[in-house]
Amino acid sequence: MPKKSKTAGLAAENKNLKAKVARLEKNEQRLKYALLELRRNEEINRKLTMASRDAVIITDLDGNITYLSERTVGLFGYKAPSELLGRNGVEFVSPEDRMRALDSFKRTAREGFVSNEEFFFLKSDGRRFCVQVNSAAIKDRKERPVALLMTLSDLTKTKNAEREIRESEETFRGLIDASPDAIFILNTDGRIIYLSEQALAVYGGEDISRVVGKSFYDFVIPDDRNSAEQVLADIASVSSVHGREMRLIRRNGDRITGEANGSILKAADGRVKGSIIVIRDITEKKKIDQELKNSYMAVKKVMDGIINAMEKLVEKKDLYTVGHQHRTAELARAIAVKMGLASEQVTCVYIAALIHDIGKIFVSGEILNKVGDLTHEEYDIIKKHPEAGFEVLKTIDFPWPIADIILQHHERLDGSGYPYGLKGDRIYLESRIISVADVVEAITFARPYRPAFGIDKALAEIENNSGKLFDAEVVEITSNLLRSGQFKFVV
Ligand SMILES: [Fe+2]
Repeated sequence: MPKKSKTAGLAAENKNLKAKVARLEKNEQRLKYALLELRRNEEINRKLTMASRDAVIITDLDGNITYLSERTVGLFGYKAPSELLGRNGVEFVSPEDRMRALDSFKRTAREGFVSNEEFFFLKSDGRRFCVQVNSAAIKDRKERPVALLMTLSDLTKTKNAEREIRESEETFRGLIDASPDAIFILNTDGRIIYLSEQALAVYGGEDISRVVGKSFYDFVIPDDRNSAEQVLADIASVSSVHGREMRLIRRNGDRITGEANGSILKAADGRVKGSIIVIRDITEKKKIDQELKNSYMAVKKVMDGIINAMEKLVEKKDLYTVGHQHRTAELARAIAVKMGLASEQVTCVYIAALIHDIGKIFVSGEILNKVGDLTHEEYDIIKKHPEAGFEVLKTIDFPWPIADIILQHHERLDGSGYPYGLKGDRIYLESRIISVADVVEAITFARPYRPAFGIDKALAEIENNSGKLFDAEVVEITSNLLRSGQFKFVV
């Protein structure tokens, strides 16, 4: 070969070699970039797995574990990934769910993605726990599945919370259904959301679903609709109401009187959801109350008649007492009211005063109606009238100690009265009131044997003896009543 052509050949070869080296260098560079990219992706995947709240497992198509995140190890109660790697995922599924798990593997490979399936798994110590699983197939370049990726979310807390809510709901329903009262749970429009068994039995019917959604007002008689609306409005504004009466219609058409108690119903965020209305059937109670009232009125009428007869009985015998007991009773009642006594005590004062001289029926008319001074003996006989009155009345079962009060109406604060010379507050307050009213009336009005002395003399008598013979408070009130004109005797 000529020398020139040999040189030219070497140069060409050199050029080729340089080009090859350049290509190789370029490929190496690309490879480096590719490796870097790969590492970066792996790092991202690893970090994603670590950051995920779910456990991550990768298996081959048969379910053999090839990768698992650290969270998975903890979730199953193991210490190291090596205890799980290489084992088949189905081993960790609770026996009753294993067939479903195998089916899920196949479906994931076939369909590419299966979501929100729930399985019971087993921890290392054998305890069962519920897990939500999302599965995806990992595919090669030709879209053929080569592995399965699963994320596992522990549902233990959710399931426990659901169970607690369910139990709390059951307790709530149990409480409501155990009540003998009818209980309605209403929304803000007054429509029924739920009703107790008692409410269903009495008002609703056999099928609760037919009653839910109905208006509560459908069970209230039309005349009481406004009252029922007011009850719901009041619950909304002041949170609860008590003892409101309304008439309702039972499913059999009967009308009942109900006593409604209600309170507001709020959601966890404080939003008003509606109200709870508890209806107690008080029809029978109202009927009994009315009967008792009627019976009381009848008894009262009889008692008033007897008291009146007793009052007239003395007046028939003792002209001195005509109108006296009645006027004394009117003043005594006014004093008792002004003193702030309870109405029952006021009634007691009034009745005792009306018949306070009843014992005089045992004193002879000659003595009682004698014009002129009484002898000591005659006066002693008259002084027996409180005890005689006590004897007459003690067997009557008054709701108040009428006989004792009458026995003490001539007792005086300092012990100078009769029959026992009782002092101070050993004398019934009612007797202290009657004694003042008795003296004021006696001095104010005329008697068959003398003219009237008038109110001023009467008041002077009690005021001069205030705290001595007569109760100071009673005297003060009596003076104020008469001087101010708040009380006037009706003649
Ligand atoms: Fe008397």
